[in-house]
Parts: sequence; structure tokens; C-alpha cells
Amino acid sequence: MRSNNPLQLTLAILKPHVIKNPFALQKIRQLILDNDFKVVRSRRTKITFSEASYFYQDHKDKFFYNRLVTFMSSGPSDIHILARDNAIVRWRELMGPTKVYQAQYLAPESIRGKFGLSDTRNATHGSDSPDSAKREIKVFFNDFNIDEWFDNEEIYFKHEQLKFDQDLFLHIIDKSLKPLPS
Ligand code: CDP
Ligand code: MG
Repeated sequence: MRSNNPLQLTLAILKPHVIKNPFALQKIRQLILDNDFKVVRSRRTKITFSEASYFYQDHKDKFFYNRLVTFMSSGPSDIHILARDNAIVRWRELMGPTKVYQAQYLAPESIRGKFGLSDTRNATHGSDSPDSAKREIKVFFNDFNIDEWFDNEEIYFKHEQLKFDQDLFLHIIDKSLKPLPS
């Protein structure tokens, strides 16, 4: 499905318990692709305690902050910049509700409904607004220039002039495929 709407970027994180479970990882990756997200950047990294603390700073007064930051820095995560029309809302819909019992009850087919283990280990992260997407992309992809991507690369993603690299889990621009519409 291709739409004429502009693309939007969001930051997605597949949290540490997903990376430890190849079945869950594969299913979530398939859901990303089946739901028309393009994978603009991918990296696997063990988020440090201080990165997680900074990333989740808005939650620093919540009762779950310490367990969240401890969990997020407990093992490798896969971090992606995803592109789609309305990517922020669509990715959050695909993830489902934050809390695992709500996810299982209200959205059993969602990622969190299927692969969430607890309110903290709820499988995935997604930015909740354009401003937070911008901030969060900067945290984990410091050299990624959002404005330059929209100026130079968005058009190839929009027209699907892309090849997909399974191993890198990444869409790569392929200008040889077909000319862009003028
Ligand atoms: O991730 P989302 O935007 O849906 O929820 P949030 O309210 O921004 O919370 C951030 C993260 O904190 C969640 O994804 C959970 O991992 C964690 N959390 C938790 O551990 N316990 C809660 N009661 C609520 C959230
Ligand atoms: Mg949030």
C-alpha cells in the first residue's frame, strides 16, 4: 500500500527481552514489514544505564523509573528509525497499550499483547509525538540529520526505490530500480 501523504519518522526500540527471544524478534520484525514501515536506520546496542536514564528522563519521578532504566540497560536492544505515513501513531497502534494486561485484554494481536511480559518488559518502545521522535532519534542516532533525510532521501523511500537487507534489517536506497516520477 502506498499513500501520497508525506512520510513521518519514529524511533522504535525492541527491548532486551525480545532480543533474547529469536521467535519474538522474528515475529516483530515481520509485523514491522507487513505494516508498511520502512527501516531507515538499525543498530543493536546495549543501552547504558546513563543513556536509559537520559532517554526516559520525563519519567524520573515515577515509581517504575529505576526498574525501567535497569531493565533497558540489562542487555542488547535493537533500535530503529522507522518511516511511514503517520508512522508515530501507526507504530503505537501496532505496539498496543503500555500495560501488559491491558494489551492482552484490549489488543491481543498487538506486539505488546503478544510479546509483553510485564508493564516494564512490554516488548517495544515508540515515540509519542513528533517532538519526542526528534529528541529520541538524536539520542541514539546522533549523526542522523532529519532535515537532510527529508531533503535528500525521503523521496526514494516514498517511491519505494529500495532494496531490503535482511541481515542488517534495513531498507537501502537503490537508484537503479526505476526513475522517480518527474
Ligand atoms: O512506552 P509508552 O509510551 O507506551 O509508556 P510510558 O508511559 O511512556 O512509559 C515508558 C515505559 O515505562 C513503558 O514502555 C514501560 O516499559 C515502563 N512502565 C513501567 O515499567 N511501569 C508502568 N506502570 C508504566 C510504564
Ligand atoms: Mg512514552
